[in-house]
Formats: sequence, C-alpha cells, structure tokens
Amino acid sequence: MSFTAPLTTPGLALDPHWHRRAVFYEVMVRSFMDSNGDGIGDLAGLISKLDYLQWLGVDALWLPPFFESPLRDGGYDVADYTAVLPEFGTIEQFRELVTKAHERNMRIVIDLVINHTSDQHPWFQASREDPQGPYGDYYVWSDTDEKYQDVRIIFVDTEESNWAFDPVRRQFYWHRFFSHQPDLNFENPKVHDEIFDVVRFWADLGVDGFRLDAIPYLYESDGGTGESEPPTHAFIAKLRAMIDEEYPGRILIAEANQWPHEVVEFFGTDEQPECHMAFDFPVMPRIFYALRSQQATELERQLSEEVHAPEGSAWGVFLRNHDELTLEMVSEEYRQAMYGWYAYDPRMRANVGIRRRLAPLLDNARSELELAHALLFSLPGSPFLYYGDEIGMGDNIWLPDRDSSRTPMQWTPDRNAGFSTADPGKLYLPVVQSLVYHYNQINVESQLAQSRSLLHWVRNVIHVRKAHPTFGLGTMRVLRTDNESVLAFVREYAGTGTHLGDSAERILCVFSFAHNPVSVTITAEGLEGAGLHDLFGGAPFPPVGDDGRLTLTLGSQSFFWLGADAAR
Ligand code: BGC
Repeated sequence: MSFTAPLTTPGLALDPHWHRRAVFYEVMVRSFMDSNGDGIGDLAGLISKLDYLQWLGVDALWLPPFFESPLRDGGYDVADYTAVLPEFGTIEQFRELVTKAHERNMRIVIDLVINHTSDQHPWFQASREDPQGPYGDYYVWSDTDEKYQDVRIIFVDTEESNWAFDPVRRQFYWHRFFSHQPDLNFENPKVHDEIFDVVRFWADLGVDGFRLDAIPYLYESDGGTGESEPPTHAFIAKLRAMIDEEYPGRILIAEANQWPHEVVEFFGTDEQPECHMAFDFPVMPRIFYALRSQQATELERQLSEEVHAPEGSAWGVFLRNHDELTLEMVSEEYRQAMYGWYAYDPRMRANVGIRRRLAPLLDNARSELELAHALLFSLPGSPFLYYGDEIGMGDNIWLPDRDSSRTPMQWTPDRNAGFSTADPGKLYLPVVQSLVYHYNQINVESQLAQSRSLLHWVRNVIHVRKAHPTFGLGTMRVLRTDNESVLAFVREYAGTGTHLGDSAERILCVFSFAHNPVSVTITAEGLEGAGLHDLFGGAPFPPVGDDGRLTLTLGSQSFFWLGADAAR
C-alpha cells in the first residue's frame, strides 16, 4: 500500500466504518430534479437538492447508472462506461456533485454494471462484426443455444432463453437479462482490464463506492447454475485487492438476490476479502409478509438464522428500490399469499415480484409505514431509502415494467410537482396524479409545512438512529416472546470509546404486527433487572424483572425502541 494514498476520498473525515453507520438514499438522476426544463432529471438538479438530502439526514447517495445508454433498461444497459448520458449532464457536473456532496459529508456510491453491456456498446458492435478482431472475444458467443441449460431465466416476463441469435455474426450470444444486454466474457483477461480501468476512472473522480450490479452472474460453466461460480468470487477478490491497494476506503456493495448463506460469500474471507456490503434480500419480503399475516414468526426465523457478516462488513437493508419487490426468496405458498395481499391486480406484478411503491403497498396506512421504517432503521445493517418513499409517494401501474415506481419526485403542488418547468407532455414519465397520491397532496413542500407529516417522522427516526451507533455497529439477538404477532430483539454494542457517543449500549426493539392492541411477555435474557427508557421521548418504562421477563402492551401495528440501563 502506498503511503501517500488517502484512506478515504479527499475532503471527507477518515472513518473506515462509515458504511456501517450510514443512511443511504437511492436516487435516480433522471427522476429527481430537472434543472433545464427539458423534462428529464439531471445532475445539476440533483446538486440543487443536496441541502434537502442533508436536512433529511442522508449520509450517502446511491446513483443507479447515469451513463451513455439507449435507456431500454433504465440505464442498466450501458453503451459507454465513462460518459455521462448528455441529457443528465457532463463529467464536470458529476465532479461538482461529488465535491458538493463531500462538502456536506455525504458520500456518493455509483452502480457498476459489469455483467453485461447494451448491445449498442461499441465493444459489442465490434465483437459481432469482427469475430477475429480485438473485441471478438469480449462476449459469450456460441454456435449452439444448448449450452448452460441449468441456468435459470431472470426476466421471465420477457425472455424465453438466455441465448439470442445475432444475425450479423451468425452465432448465439449469452444474456442473463434482456436480449439487448449481452453478457461480457469474463474468461477474457482483457475484459478484466477494461473493467478495472472503468473503476479507476470513477474512483479518480472521487466516488466513495460501487454497487456491483447483478454480481453473481459473471461466469457460467457446463453443469453449473451460472450463479456465484468460483471464478466469479475470484474476480471480485481481485477487484477488492485493487481497491485496497489503489483506493483504500472506497467500498464495494454486492447485489446478489440469494439466501444469506450464499450472499455471505460475497463478503469473502479474511485472506481474500470481497465486498464491504451486501444487500439483505431475504429479510425484505418477510417484513411485508409479517405486516399482512400479523405473524412475526417467519421474520423471526430468518433473523435468528446464524449468518456471519464478517468484522467490518455490513448488510444493506431496504424496503423498496427501483426494481420490483422481488419474491424470489420466499416459498411458493408465501409468494401466492403476498401476491394476493399486495398484487391483487395482475398489472401490479413483474417477473417474480411486485412493481409497486412502499406507500401504495401499505395502502397508505401511517401506522404500517412507521412500523416498516422502524424495522428498516433498527435491523442489523445499513438502511437504504428509495427516493420519494420518505413522503409516501405513489406509483403508476399503467406505466410499463418498473417505470411504475420511477416517476418524477414530487416537490411542490405546482406544475409537474415542481420537478420540471417543461410542458407536462414532455416529461420522461408523467407525475403521479392518482386519487390518493396526487402530487397536489403528496409533495415535499406540503409535508415540510406539517410538523406531523411522514417526512418529518422519517427525518426524526433517522436522527434518533444516528444518535445511537449501536444500530449500525452492534450485534442482534432475537428474544423469545409469548405472542406470535410480536418480534423482539436486542441490539448490543460493546463500544470503543473512540467517538463521541461511541460507548457501550443495549437497545431493546419490540414490534407488534397485530392489527389490534396486544400484550406480550418477552424473555429478555441478559437484561435481567435493567431499567428501560424510550429512545424518542426519554420516558422511563417499567424495568425488566429480575427473572428477565418483561410484559408490555402495544397499540395496533406499533413498536418500541427502548434503551436498557445497567441492571439496578
Ligand atoms: C438491476 C435492474 C436491472 C438488472 C439488469 C439489476 O439487478 O437492479 O434494474 O434491470 O440488474 O442490469
């Protein structure tokens, strides 16, 4: 490691654990704010809203692809990895975004979509036209579409095969996603070099991390599933080694829609570390299942499963993102139940999931929105918010595919919800004007004006979380309860004493999914005799009994975060 290499991006305080404390916010450049009236969100617009994000308490932005692209998959079809799509702005504006974010102690994480490119990428054009040329081997070509038959199809709504025939080269090419997204050939070392150069390009511009899109799918083999094959892990370990060597302090986040014991492999080992973070896919649908079934059992089982995220790494927890709410990680029985509750109109479904936003999923019920967020902010890992969910934005299921929940951010009750001054017909997608979620009612300005709005509530809960490093750094222990509707766990942190407020702490978190008030007795092992106080208002609660038992009553769909004092 070079002695001159900074341990973090310039201008930011050194904190090797920043990703474990951070509140992340996913924001699509196209959807947030249009600065020049062309109907499309852009980097300058996003820059103009950094004060809002700072006020909300956001520590890091995750930007889905904003690169040159035909936009046939929301930008996940990249045509040039190092160019900004002109309607979004310029590299100079991106640099300005990084600087202005860093000035606010906010980090920038970008998407690295390396499993595939757009078929418009010059590499693919060269590859199909000149099989013997320098790019001939950049993609996975075959004379037959019979290979790798054990590999599942991901976009089941649109694709029938992972192979597509190219009439120019007169061969089949491999694609795990849309057929206009050919997979790169990672067997080719030149592809590795290209990707490393892309990473260096953005790291040199100051980005603080990369979300590794669709990362399990890099390699496929005869008889394999095409997911998490050993060379895929070897490649990530090589990428991590380069980051640690050349850009220490920057992070890698794995997007692997798999079970925790599989996802955990993306953290790597002590000898061969891979990612700093990985999204926790299985826990998310179980939150939604608990809300409707009024049963905490399945969520509890999932959380109790011993999954070791190695020292220094973190899960990324989320309720919604720019994709469908995936139901791949639940059993068929649960999936059908969830379709019945949350996607009763077939139009609400996409692939193996549900293409709706958080507020409509929860039928705009304030108690459920609060309960879901309370879980998001207290489960082990760092929370990822999806833009607009902090104001309870609605969706538009009449739009195709996942565009249903990618509509313009609603800032004001004015034209185009304050997102753009363009002619409304010119917007990249229409603003939501449905009965319940019309931008007249659901917008930042009006929620700022109401002290009890969802926006103020979310901001408050973020700040309470941030005042307690235990939520980011501590362990979790699920506790036994005598009520199936109630989930209880304790977050514990030994403290290092090195940061302000970084002292030993225990927090008892209790959630009731019942649709009516309940009473519950919790066996709070390890907290025998501890005094309790509410983390929001500070009010004292009855202490835990000397036998470790604690009886509480909870209103319908409600929760407590209780700080536990030392035993009396
Ligand atoms: C992204 C999707 C995208 C897919 C193909 C995913 O994992 O989140 O939005 O369609 O990768 O790139």
